Amino acid sequence: MCGIVGCIGNRSVTPIIVESLKRLEYRGYDSAGIATLNGAEIDITKTEGKIADLENILSLTNTACVGIGHTRWATHGIPSSTNAHPHADCSGSFAVVHNGIIENFQALKDELTSKGHIFSSETDTEVLAHLCEDCYNGDLESAVREALLRVEGSYAIAVISDNEPDVIVAARKDSPLIVGLGDGENFLASDIPAIRKYTNKVMYINDGEIVRLTRDNVTVSTLQGVNVERLVTIVDGSVQDAERGGYEHFMLKEIHEQPKALRDTMEDRLCELEGSIDFKELRPFEDEIKNIEGITIIACGTSYHAGILGKYALEDLLRIPVKVEYSSEFRYNNFLSGNRSLAICISQSGETADTLAAMNEAKAQGYLTLAITNVVGSTITRKADEILLTKSGMEIGVAATKTFTAQILTLYMLGIYVARLKKLIDVETSRHIITSMKSVPGLIESLLDNISDIEKASSRICEADCCYFIGRGLSYPIALEGALKMKEISYIKAEGFPAGELKHGPLALITAGTPVIAIVPKGKTYYKTLGNIKEVKARNAFVIAIANASDDEIVKYVDSVIKIPDIDELFSPMLAAVVLQLLAYYAAKDIGAEIDQPRNLAKSVTVE
Ligand code: M6R
Repeated sequence: MCGIVGCIGNRSVTPIIVESLKRLEYRGYDSAGIATLNGAEIDITKTEGKIADLENILSLTNTACVGIGHTRWATHGIPSSTNAHPHADCSGSFAVVHNGIIENFQALKDELTSKGHIFSSETDTEVLAHLCEDCYNGDLESAVREALLRVEGSYAIAVISDNEPDVIVAARKDSPLIVGLGDGENFLASDIPAIRKYTNKVMYINDGEIVRLTRDNVTVSTLQGVNVERLVTIVDGSVQDAERGGYEHFMLKEIHEQPKALRDTMEDRLCELEGSIDFKELRPFEDEIKNIEGITIIACGTSYHAGILGKYALEDLLRIPVKVEYSSEFRYNNFLSGNRSLAICISQSGETADTLAAMNEAKAQGYLTLAITNVVGSTITRKADEILLTKSGMEIGVAATKTFTAQILTLYMLGIYVARLKKLIDVETSRHIITSMKSVPGLIESLLDNISDIEKASSRICEADCCYFIGRGLSYPIALEGALKMKEISYIKAEGFPAGELKHGPLALITAGTPVIAIVPKGKTYYKTLGNIKEVKARNAFVIAIANASDDEIVKYVDSVIKIPDIDELFSPMLAAVVLQLLAYYAAKDIGAEIDQPRNLAKSVTVE
């Protein structure tokens, strides 16, 4: 987590850094700071709180043309202005911003303290500033290199020093870092949108590399000092992607962008007539994929929930075992050899540390690795054997919405693709699935046109202090996702259960009036779920059902119904997911929570 930026040019960098930090705020927002260098000395301003709080205390007359900035999600040390970055050495000659964790910081701190260095924060990062001071011998890049050779852990850092007022040195290991190239000015950041307003020319920096930026030049080398030639990539994606576009919150905008995200993700991939999926990017791996005998899906949070749906769909289509593992668990488990196995690693950001580490483990065990991600050029795209991109556009709200439904869609497309490769389904069957798939965006549009029942149900939920989500089969992961969305942004206690598990424990939680959201579309488990609804109704729960438009029966058994359009059972989770996103959104709005930036959370979790 945390976001870093840097800029060196011929104009005042303060507004540029503030603007870039605002676009990185999704990575962490408990404190922020900026260090500028005006040719003679470093000036640091930092505070607890958001970028807006930092903006309020920044000097508008600062004309410095070199600077670095940071938005923090606390790991070592509480959120406070002392622990906020940038951190300086004893003399105030070096300033450092850092995203990652320095694992051996205590040993380094002890050593530096014994040499007389005085620390002022509780952070791991501060050792980097003192190490640079300790290693400096007339060349900032060499000092950073020497310092980093002593460091264990993960980092993307940027360093400035008043000894060399026209240079920024940055480096990365296991945390993202890109460089943007301007005209007489250069930038660095944790991701592209942070600097997209200023340039579309970027260089991706790899693990173990150091980059030296001046106004007119950027050089990349390895930690060992070997120069590296790095190609410049021209990026697309408009600046408007990072604007709210008239919506009150990014989350609401992103919920409404789902039809487009799904259409874009399907575009050029669906061959309805042939009943096949054209994943051009997978062609070189067709033989390997055809011979796959097992699949493990690895992901965190919302991506994990998409993974469970993927498991159900893939097992059904491919008739091979599919496991779903939390990345943070998989990486430490004693898993079996991945021979003839595929590891599907799902991460919208492509930067989640646990998922990246789990993917590395899977690779080491012989799995063929396939990443499903939304971010072009993210770390996962450079480490996986194969990549499938969801084309949802940038997602800024911390709560994943449009990327979730696009992940489900991509897993379904993958299922059809592999099933056709393995000759497990005929053209007729896959054509039928593809036809339904194509109708999903339009059905989501119609759902979004009529949300009054969702708003009503959300105010009912807000009156309670907890709520439960139940579903069976394909609706079970949606119950989990509905609960995650609810707790994440509204802070209402919410849990999701397989409806059949209620009587094995959770039923004890149901008291009169407890809201239970039952996801009950027509399908294999409809009547079973109805039975579970009766169980909670018998305990006087307040049941809100998410059911098909044509379901006239459900109203007899529940207190309130939210209708979703009729569609093949396989796709109703995508429609129900949109309802649950809105349910959480309106509950959070009722409560007055900070929807796009929920407390304690960050959009991408780039630390373990
Ligand atoms: O970028 P990733 O998909 O790897 O992120 C995984 C989770 O951190 C993420 O899905 C998280 O659970 C969402 N913010 C929930 O809305």
